[in-house]
Amino acid sequence: MEIKKTMAVYFSPTTSTRQLTLAVGKGVASVFGTQLHFKNWGRPRMREQDAVFDRETLAVVGMPTYAGRLPNLIAPSISDHLKGNKTPAIAVVTYGNRAYENSLAELVSRLSKNGFIVVAAAAIPCAHAFANIGEGRPTQQDIVDAAVFGQKTALNLAQVEYENQLTPVAVPGDPDAPYYTPLKEDGTPAHFLKAKPEIDEARCTGCGVCVRFCPMGSFAVNPLNGKAEIHGVCIKCQACLRGCLPEALAFKDPDFLSHRKMLEAHYSAHQDAAYFPFAI
Ligand SMILES: Cc1cc2nc3c(=O)[nH]c(=O)nc-3n(C[C@H](O)[C@H](O)[C@H](O)COP(=O)(O)O)c2cc1C
Repeated sequence: MEIKKTMAVYFSPTTSTRQLTLAVGKGVASVFGTQLHFKNWGRPRMREQDAVFDRETLAVVGMPTYAGRLPNLIAPSISDHLKGNKTPAIAVVTYGNRAYENSLAELVSRLSKNGFIVVAAAAIPCAHAFANIGEGRPTQQDIVDAAVFGQKTALNLAQVEYENQLTPVAVPGDPDAPYYTPLKEDGTPAHFLKAKPEIDEARCTGCGVCVRFCPMGSFAVNPLNGKAEIHGVCIKCQACLRGCLPEALAFKDPDFLSHRKMLEAHYSAHQDAAYFPFAI
């Protein structure tokens, strides 16, 4: 099969998913000599636009793992707005060194129901957004491995003559499984669904980086005092904290902080990426 366009779509508040999805996409594009196009789902309006794919495009879709599944407020956009037409796809999930559990199965399932033929998939560990585990990842080697995976997938696709030879990839997990329950240090459930970053007004310069970085569009700068305010939903992705150079934002919720400590105590061991290659 000849692929004429490679399109990467990703949601990546702290940039790991972006780096790995683009690496896979670059690997594919290098084999077919196509440009790599991308859609960054970092803003609400980007996730509201329909993206329709034909069968000569290869889609690389990358999502982070949140609570063992795809982020629950982002995943519906895949089903509502990514439309394939027997479009070959590669599914990529990242996870913060604990476990990806059912996120890859959910991504494959949502894409398959929307006209994509998911031929290959990967679950790749990276730095955890809010705990000091998986630090320094993706490494340069992780990026190279992801690009080589994209190349190998493309080389196999190039050998396929008809799309009915495209075999959907099998991945572990249950797309409808319940979300993982985060635990505190003492092993009891941590309840931090409503936790949001607290704003230190003495440090806030009103620069508006949080307004720009928040993928939910939940921040605003109050014109009366020139300080940031958070009005909308918080998915705890940490994009705002990463961008805030004066360090005016912090999560202080006790259950959230206890969960972070639990992760650091139990999930610091190195994890290998899992690649599910395209079989012909
Ligand atoms: C709300 C939330 C829930 C998370 N749940 C998990 C999880 O269940 N397992 C895991 O290994 N990492 C988990 N992580 C870590 C993310 O998977 C990791 O930080 C993410 O892949 C980073 O992607 P990004 O850099 O593209 O934002 C979670 C992160 C957040 C913010």
